[in-house]
Formats: sequence, C-alpha cells, structure tokens
Amino acid sequence: MVVGELTEETEVLVVGGGPGGYVAAFKCADLGLRTTLVDANAQLGGVCLREGCIPSKALLHVSHLIDHATHAAEFGVSFKKPAIDLDKLRGWKNSVVDRLCGGINALAKNRKVRVVTGKATFEDSRTVRIEGGDVGRLKFKHAIVATGSVAKRLPEKIIPADCCIDSTGALDLESIPKKLAVIGGGYIGLELGQVYAGLGSEVTVIEALDNLLTGPDPDLVRPLERRLKEQFAAIHTGAMVEGAKRTGKGVELTYSIKGKKQTLLVDKVLTSVGRAPNTRDIGLENTKVKVNDRGFIEVDNQMRTADKRILAIGDVAGDPMLAHKASHEGIVAAEVLAGHNAVFDKKAIPAVVYTSPELAWCGMTEAEAKQAGRKVKVGKFPWTASGRAIAMGAPQGLTKIIADSETQRVLGVGIVGEHAGDLIAEAVLAIEMGCEAEDLALTIHPHPSTSETVMEAAEGVFGASLHVAR
Ligand code: NAI
Repeated sequence: MVVGELTEETEVLVVGGGPGGYVAAFKCADLGLRTTLVDANAQLGGVCLREGCIPSKALLHVSHLIDHATHAAEFGVSFKKPAIDLDKLRGWKNSVVDRLCGGINALAKNRKVRVVTGKATFEDSRTVRIEGGDVGRLKFKHAIVATGSVAKRLPEKIIPADCCIDSTGALDLESIPKKLAVIGGGYIGLELGQVYAGLGSEVTVIEALDNLLTGPDPDLVRPLERRLKEQFAAIHTGAMVEGAKRTGKGVELTYSIKGKKQTLLVDKVLTSVGRAPNTRDIGLENTKVKVNDRGFIEVDNQMRTADKRILAIGDVAGDPMLAHKASHEGIVAAEVLAGHNAVFDKKAIPAVVYTSPELAWCGMTEAEAKQAGRKVKVGKFPWTASGRAIAMGAPQGLTKIIADSETQRVLGVGIVGEHAGDLIAEAVLAIEMGCEAEDLALTIHPHPSTSETVMEAAEGVFGASLHVAR
C-alpha cells in the first residue's frame, strides 16, 4: 500500500482535536465506540491549547505579576523595574503549551483513540479524504465536525496583511513593540492589550462601537475600563479604522471618530475583530450538512446536523465560541452516538475576560432580562465593602445578581474583580439548579473571601446586605 492511499474504517470520526473534538473523541471511546480523531496538527488541543486560551493565560499571569509587583509599592514593598528575558518568557509559555498538548496526546493513546494527522475533507456522508498524513481516506459510520474557528481579518484594502498580526502572531511574542495598536476592544483585544502593556508596550485600543465589551452589563465593564485607562496609552471608542500603511518608521494607521480623521504611528497593529467558524474548505457541500449565512453549521439540541450521519460541536455549531461550551457539546454528541437520550440544554454558559480585574458573567444580563420583558430585582455588592478585597489591595470590583422579582430565581450573575472567573462557577451552578437568591444568601461562605460578595449581593436582592449602608 502506498503511503497516503491507505483507507481505514472507523465507527466515529472526529474532525478537529480542540477542546470540543478531543473531549468528544475521549467520551466516544469511554462509551465503547471505535473512534478516530483527525487533526491537521500533530499536537492535539486545538487553537485553545496551542495559540489561544492557554498561552494567553500564561502571558497574562506574567503581566499581572508585574502589575502586582508595581502596586506593592503602595504597601511599602518596592521592586526594581522588571528585566524581561523575552526568549526565556517565550520558552516558558511554549513549555506550558507543550506540557498540556502532550497530556492530551497521552490521554488519546491511553483510551486507544486512533489519532491521524492530516487535513480532512468530506467526500460524501461516509468518507473523508486526508491530506498530509499516512492515511489517505477514512470511512466512518458517524462523524463529529469540531473544526473550530479562525480570526476574522479586516479587508486587505483597509489593513494590508503585512501591516498587522492576529492573536496567534501576538502570542508568538516575537518582540515587545514600543507602540502597539489594538483594533477591536473585545475579549482578545483587551486580554492581549494587557499582556503587552504589562510587558512595557504603549497600547492604544481602537473600537468601532461606543463601548468596550458589549456582552456584559456596562456597570460591570466600568471598573475594568477604569483600570485599562490607567494601563493603556489610549482607548478610542466609536472609532472606525480606515487604512494602514507601512512607512520607514512603522505602521501608520488612519481612523476616524465622528467623521474626524486621525492618524497614529505604531510599531505593530494587532487585529482582534472577532472569529469566524471553520466551515469552508472542508467539503461540507459534499454532504447534506446545512451551513447558515453566518457560516455556522445548523444543529439541533442533540448536536445533529441535517445529515443524519454527521454531528457538529463547538465554534462551528454557533455562539458563544467558548472552549467549555464546545467540550460540553462534545460530551452530548458522544452520548447521542452511543444511543443515550442526551441533549445540550444549559441555562447558563459562563463567559470570562481574563484581564485584571477579571470580568465574568453567566445567565441573563440585566439588559437581556429587561429586554425579554422579565421583572427583575437586582442585588449589587461593591468590593470596596469586602474585607478580603481590601486586604488584597483589589477593591475595584462589583458582584451583581439579577433575580426574577416574583419567583426570586437567580436569572443571571456578573462579577468584576480579581479571580472573578473562578467565583462565577458557583453562580452557574445556582442558575442550573434553579436556586433562588435566598439560597445563595443563606449559604455560609468562608470569611474572609471574595466569594462572600456573591452571598452579599444575594442579600442585596432583598435590600438586606449588612455590609453596605441602607
Ligand atoms: P469579540 O467579538 O470579543 O470583539 C471584537 C471587537 O472588535 C468588537 O467589540 C467589535 O465591535 C470590534 N470591531 C469589529 N470590527 C472592527 C473594526 N473594523 N474596527 C474597530 N473595531 C472593530 O472578538 P475577539 O476579541 O476577536 O474574540 C473572538 C472570540 O474568541 C470571542 O468572541 C470569544 O468567543 C473567544 N475568546 C474567548 C476568550 C475567553 O473566553 N476569555 C478569550 C479570547 C477569545
């Protein structure tokens, strides 16, 4: 058999080895299904592990460390200006990625999931062609599409490719630009903006809309925005980018605010203007799978597509494009293929922006609840009243609970503050279990901890928080 022409057969084929695909493959294997996982990259883990969630968190950790060290002067502890060994920092970040990706490959082996490296393209509803690996073709009984997403690009005539980098390029950490422009004030722009600001770059954010981060309620964004204004050189909202050109001195960026043209000379431009699902160039047109006009695969609550042999999960299956949502969809898909009566039916999917302070929310925002015509009671607890937050030197926070005013059921929770991303898990559980605000208020939380702010905000729903003035 000539290498690359071999045809293999499998019960379940999973295309894409990110947090959606590898979780689906492992669960399929655990449920006794013969499973093959195909990924173009030999290192499993997808964008999340290789060039997204994980390396960005490693670098954010360093940036927060520098920030904390700088602020320690307020407590009477002064450190010298940090000396950054960029090669060593990059090496450490890569070692974090390698360790985790290696772990996924080892777990695949342990579960006897067949891993094939190469790019898969559907030839029909039973077969994929694979380029770049030892196996040329794979026949499957069922397939799970988990091909993820790619960074959106601005049109070449606005920002030529040689004038900008995307998040992958930014995480490569080639150099620390003196001046960095970030186009797009969403998750990626703010997280990576903070990484580079921490490492010493002068960061300017250019956001088309009137506010940063349009998902959460504006009162939760405010404490983060205040912090970012201190760290960044400038934040321009309502700013439309019109063009960029390379000059001898760097990249000259042109943008307009309320029709007024401005220019900015920077060393690097990072574009973070959203992500698009990877549903093109994978041969879906050769199957019965339907793709909507936004490029997402249409799925039902069992992750089934219009093609009865093919399921889809993760970023290709619709918003929110978050790793943890992909993993849970992967588990549902595996259970469905194993004949279980499983559905993806979550009341709350947490979203976290891992800046300092972190911003996390789940369930309905106050704006969404009101838009849906719900009568709500809102409890808020400012972290300036939290003993633990003050003792950490981090009183810039707010915990907010949105409850149904008749049933008292918790509809949504938002938290901005240090480690908000860890604190939000309690709120997700509360919403999933149909808790009332009183359940959170009556639950003893450890003192002193920032988790108490959830209890206090729940008390606030009844106007009864004892640590704020009446
Ligand atoms: P995003 O959708 O969060 O933000 C993009 C921003 O760019 C928006 O505010 C938008 O108004 C702005 N924008 C679009 N076109 C523009 C233009 N021409 N000029 C100026 N601004 C413009 O997208 P982002 O930050 O690229 O992240 C993509 C996705 O990746 C997120 O939606 C999220 O699903 C995922 N992600 C999740 C993270 C997490 O969970 N912590 C971290 C990073 C990414």
